[in-house]
Amino acid sequence: MTTPDNRRIVIFDTTLRDGEQSPGASMNLAEKMEVAHALVELGVDVIEAGFPIASPGDFEAVREIARQVRGSTVCGLARCREADIDRAWEAVQHAPQRRIHVFLATSAIHREHKLRMGKDEIIQRAVEGVRRAKGYCDDVEFSPEDAARTEIDFLCQVVEAAIDAGATTVNIPDTVGYAMPSEMHRVIATLCQRVPNIHRTILSVHCHNDLGMAVANSLAAVEAGAGQIECTINGIGERAGNCSLEEVVMALRTRNDFYRADTHIVTQRLLPTSRLVSGVTGIQVQRNKAIVGQNAFAHEAGIHQDGMLKERTTYEIMRPEDVGYAQTELVLGKHSGRAALADRVRTLGYHLSPEQLDAVFEEFKILADKKKEIYDGDISALVEQEIMAVGELWSLVSYYAATGTGREPDVELVLRRRGETFTAKMNTGDGPLDAIFLAIEQITQTHVTCKDFHVHSITMGKDAQAEVQVELEHEGRLFRGRGVSTDSVEASTKAFLNAVNRIAAMGNGKRRD
Ligand code: KIV
Ligand code: ZN
Repeated sequence: MTTPDNRRIVIFDTTLRDGEQSPGASMNLAEKMEVAHALVELGVDVIEAGFPIASPGDFEAVREIARQVRGSTVCGLARCREADIDRAWEAVQHAPQRRIHVFLATSAIHREHKLRMGKDEIIQRAVEGVRRAKGYCDDVEFSPEDAARTEIDFLCQVVEAAIDAGATTVNIPDTVGYAMPSEMHRVIATLCQRVPNIHRTILSVHCHNDLGMAVANSLAAVEAGAGQIECTINGIGERAGNCSLEEVVMALRTRNDFYRADTHIVTQRLLPTSRLVSGVTGIQVQRNKAIVGQNAFAHEAGIHQDGMLKERTTYEIMRPEDVGYAQTELVLGKHSGRAALADRVRTLGYHLSPEQLDAVFEEFKILADKKKEIYDGDISALVEQEIMAVGELWSLVSYYAATGTGREPDVELVLRRRGETFTAKMNTGDGPLDAIFLAIEQITQTHVTCKDFHVHSITMGKDAQAEVQVELEHEGRLFRGRGVSTDSVEASTKAFLNAVNRIAAMGNGKRRD
């Protein structure tokens, strides 16, 4: 609630732009749409949907989000260049609430080594960029990249000029995660004091986490007067990531007595959104991560458990249900119909087309034959697998694998591509999975190095589904893949194939015959 002494902080989510820049986190269009819908339900004010000039895929994603998403402002990123700004506008124009975000580096290191520009030229470029964006839309954000390492006098000049040119939000990035909280506080406080037109803009902050300070720096900026925080779900992003949305939002909510500021985030959607982003990017959330980690509300020590039983607030500063942990998980089974599944899918926050729901229902029936009780985690896995499979070039038809101690594996793999089947037999490899992976490489003619491989069970019990995540390197880039099945070999095969499909989608899949 916003009262005179309870400021409303704008939440600008950049999961689909800065978050997607995490190595291996690239998402396809269907995945981005699903995340965008989830962000709206979460109540974020601004969705930075991508960097439209970066690639045709980025452009298409921003344009589709702008066309379909309602309820949040849709923003496209642009450098201070005409072509970038024009392309960003082309992508966001269909959104009822749209924003163009232009950026230009201002620190001495960037001016000298990257841009080779003097201070006057930087100011002129920034002003031209903001003016061009302003010619298209009212809502324009300007970011002096690497602001945290920019000389404060020059930063004040750039910010003043950008506001005069029409910037309605001025964002202060700590691009390399270098600042300390008290420094960030000083920068924002100085801008508030010294920039004469600062009241005409919303000051924003965008912190990277290289020294683990992103959330602390963002909060320090709010304390000093910032009115917008840029952040990502699960804190994903370049290198060590960005400010984590769930942490910063819950800090403001839980310590409202201290910050006297709050957001419009529907906190009960934090956990489902975190799980969705982790699922589609393949970036797992560490167990002890604040708010959304598996252990975030687990009390192990006897003394804590005793205190909790007597009075929860002895050891609990937030209620798990307030961030989306369900009290009970609804269980579906083989007699549950399409309507019950559809209802559960909606409650879990997914938006499936009728065709996608049909496909998930088919998989649900197959699973219900193998497994007595189907939990929310199983349903999320089926839905996310369906979303990830949209537009995939290669699909698994069947596999056969026989092996034993001291024996060569014997594998036969059948894949389908546009209705045509391809078979490979393999008698080499370090076990059956290696042989299957070699067979996939042979059929798809995609050569990769497996960098990481994880198996875990989605729910409890011997009949639980296995989820496999792989990370493959191809031509110097990382691609993640995920597969789910009650059969862990099949789950591994699907995960490897999912990553190969991502490579193919990037135009690197070699088999063109
Ligand atoms: O980290 C950064 O400086 C950015 C800008 C584009 C805002 O991501
Ligand atoms: Zn950034």
